[in-house]
Amino acid sequence: MTKLDAGKAGTFKIGSDLTINRLGFGAMQLTGKGIWGKPDDRDECLATLKRLPELGVNFIDTADSYGPDVSEHLIHKALHPYRDILVATKAGMVRGGPDIWHPLGRPDYLRQQALMSLRFLGVEQIGLWQLHRIDRNVPRDEQFGAIKSLLDDGLIRHAGLSEVSVEDVEAARKVFPVSTVQNRYNLIDRTSEAVLAYCETHGIGFIPWFPLAAGELEKPGSLLDGIAETHRATPGQIALAWLLKRSDVLLPIPGTSRVSHLEENVAAANITLSAEEFAALDRAGRAVFEKR
Ligand SMILES: NC(=O)c1ccc[n+]([C@@H]2O[C@H](COP(=O)([O-])OP(=O)(O)OC[C@H]3O[C@@H](n4cnc5c(N)ncnc54)[C@H](OP(=O)(O)O)[C@@H]3O)[C@@H](O)[C@H]2O)c1
Repeated sequence: MTKLDAGKAGTFKIGSDLTINRLGFGAMQLTGKGIWGKPDDRDECLATLKRLPELGVNFIDTADSYGPDVSEHLIHKALHPYRDILVATKAGMVRGGPDIWHPLGRPDYLRQQALMSLRFLGVEQIGLWQLHRIDRNVPRDEQFGAIKSLLDDGLIRHAGLSEVSVEDVEAARKVFPVSTVQNRYNLIDRTSEAVLAYCETHGIGFIPWFPLAAGELEKPGSLLDGIAETHRATPGQIALAWLLKRSDVLLPIPGTSRVSHLEENVAAANITLSAEEFAALDRAGRAVFEKR
């Protein structure tokens, strides 16, 4: 069997100094249903986390609101003191129950949540802290100012944004250096193409969430299905391989609560799509997106 190694996906420097392997891990599923409370199979979640360093995965994405707190606690339990793993977290969403999320960007709240993440993760500085959503009921610059003060006080090393436009990123960059953007992006969701282009120009990491999605392209007999068969891979693995080839600033974070799925996702780093396969998938994905 080919060795599983997320490093085969290449590396990226977050904020020009924290080097990570480009294929990371999303820790949102390490919770109960509706991203609320404890997971049904805590042991499997812990085993999944412990397997990450063995597979060369050294970039984990979590948030204070996953559980809430449950994901951060499990990451601490399984992996503290982390060694060369970068645990990125987020804040700026409050939870009212399973599947209920509300943006909250008051500066005092953002600072409190960053302090809580420091405590739950057991670190003195968070390597990458992201504003989960810009709260449109609070002046944007006040939220950016809160991030700048977290950076200035050394509580966080680098900062990022999530679900933002090019215009948001430009406004934020007037206040603090934006190291990453985390927007939904995949083969069939190209809403953020302009943001991706902006990130490429400015060396900003783009963390595409929902990276495994391929929608109707996954159907048996489809182009994606055929390419997957050629590579003896699953459609999800091909969707990941496509993202890795799409841009050097893309840092996919497929999420799972199972060791077997984690191994399958990391195996995507071994897949090299030909230029023709890449282009055909690109066209097919755009066509699905445009007819929505
Ligand atoms: N910034 C944001 O607003 C935002 C929003 C959503 C997510 N995120 C982040 O992005 C990460 C990825 O997001 P996501 O929506 O794609 O993923 P996700 O919510 O973490 O879960 C992916 C889903 O796919 C399943 N899965 C994963 N690998 C699989 C495999 N190899 N075979 C079959 N099923 C598989 C998982 O189930 P199993 O657990 O059973 O494998 C899970 O149901 C999240 O973990 C989170 O860190 C950010």
